[in-house]
Amino acid sequence: MSTATFTSPELRHDSLSPAARPLAAVTGAELQAPLIQGGHVRYANLDYGASAPALTVVSAYLNEVLPFYASVHRGAGYASQISTSVYENARNIVREFVGGRADDSVIFTRNTTDSLNLLAGCLPVVDGKHSGEVVYLDIEHHANLLPWQHLPHRSIVAASTLAETLANVREALAHGGVSLLAVTGASNVTGEILPVKELAAIAHENGARIVVDAAQLAPHRRVDIAAAGIDYLVFSGHKLYAPFGAGVLVGRPDWLDAGTPHLAGGGAVREARLDSVTWATGPARHEGGSPNVLGAATLARATQVIAELDQDEWHAHESAIRTHLVEGLKEIEGVTVHQIFSDTDPADTIGVVNFSLEGYDAGLVAAYLSAEHGIGLRDGRFCAHPLLKRLGLPSGSLRASFGLGSRLEDATRLIAGIKALKAEGLGWDYVVDSGRWVPANDHRSYPHWAPNTPGTAGAAPCSTN
Ligand SMILES: Cc1ncc(COP(=O)(O)O)c(C=O)c1O
Repeated sequence: MSTATFTSPELRHDSLSPAARPLAAVTGAELQAPLIQGGHVRYANLDYGASAPALTVVSAYLNEVLPFYASVHRGAGYASQISTSVYENARNIVREFVGGRADDSVIFTRNTTDSLNLLAGCLPVVDGKHSGEVVYLDIEHHANLLPWQHLPHRSIVAASTLAETLANVREALAHGGVSLLAVTGASNVTGEILPVKELAAIAHENGARIVVDAAQLAPHRRVDIAAAGIDYLVFSGHKLYAPFGAGVLVGRPDWLDAGTPHLAGGGAVREARLDSVTWATGPARHEGGSPNVLGAATLARATQVIAELDQDEWHAHESAIRTHLVEGLKEIEGVTVHQIFSDTDPADTIGVVNFSLEGYDAGLVAAYLSAEHGIGLRDGRFCAHPLLKRLGLPSGSLRASFGLGSRLEDATRLIAGIKALKAEGLGWDYVVDSGRWVPANDHRSYPHWAPNTPGTAGAAPCSTN
């Protein structure tokens, strides 16, 4: 196997930067990606925002727990007791991680989408009618838009500044009749952080509660829900370095204990009869069926690793990569870096950079970067169609996202890849297959255990127009 080594002069500065090395070890860090013109290169994973690699500590923990894995709750055996204790204790670990109140429920779900759908089934109902509206901004990921659309709801167009946007939210809530303000903690499109503490205060002043979609925020910033006044917080393990299928909803128990059980079935009941049921309260009410024990356990373990990070070091690492990438991209003629608000403080952005290259379809650039440079990033509309439309990007853009396992070199390689595209053009032919750009006559093989089925790379519903 030949190895293409990357030799940009910019790399010489890497050793001086806090971002020269990964901040934590992740699985797949040295993965070699085959290039379309031959050779291999270290895979530059710039797609953490979609799914982050597992922390090696977390995957080691998974292997440690696996021999003890057994049925939880009703199993009397030794392994069942251990599995039950690991699963139930995962709630306490996650509650502590997010600064939860002592009585907050911690409900394990599949992911953020599942958590928000669960909450949507728990909004207060009086005399058979929902007692208030859900209000959300037009910058949300579909997971924080669509669950509310079958309920009384109102959307607010985010203004060009954060300050004006907060004023608009305040005004919308002042009209009364709002039960829930649903906001993202950080935009999955641009990485801008929203001032959730201020938004929580606005919600509470107007008799509403707030749910924060922390799918993007939690992997980049500590959140203290009690201190910030957040009523509900949701996030996903697979974006938090624990890609084993669990998500979580943490929040005030009253609505959750009265709401529609999210998954009717075994475990969610106190007593079941042939034609009626008395539902359980607490997390069990919404966790019908056999839970994802290892998903919850590894999610909790990942939160412990993150809680131990030196926060200054963590933010310096990420901010060095972001600054380097944004500055490098902005120097290239034809590249535009996108953001929602003109007054966002760069310190209030996470490891997400959104950009486009004039004259090039975003999907083609992504395919080129993958095939010719071994760089993995995201293109499309990022499951935020209303926002992309408003940003003037109806056919999508590119998103580079990074985190604990990233290095400055990853950003340097992306900048060099875009420069090479501008200077030399494409080095290969590309065709559209199932709606996605792919290299023509792609001869590269997958590992023997992974089926290489033509067309599967095109299955990206949020990117299609
Ligand atoms: C801000 C935001 N919210 C929600 C989601 C949905 O997360 P999941 O796919 O884990 O349900 C995502 C995923 O990209 C996201 O970025």
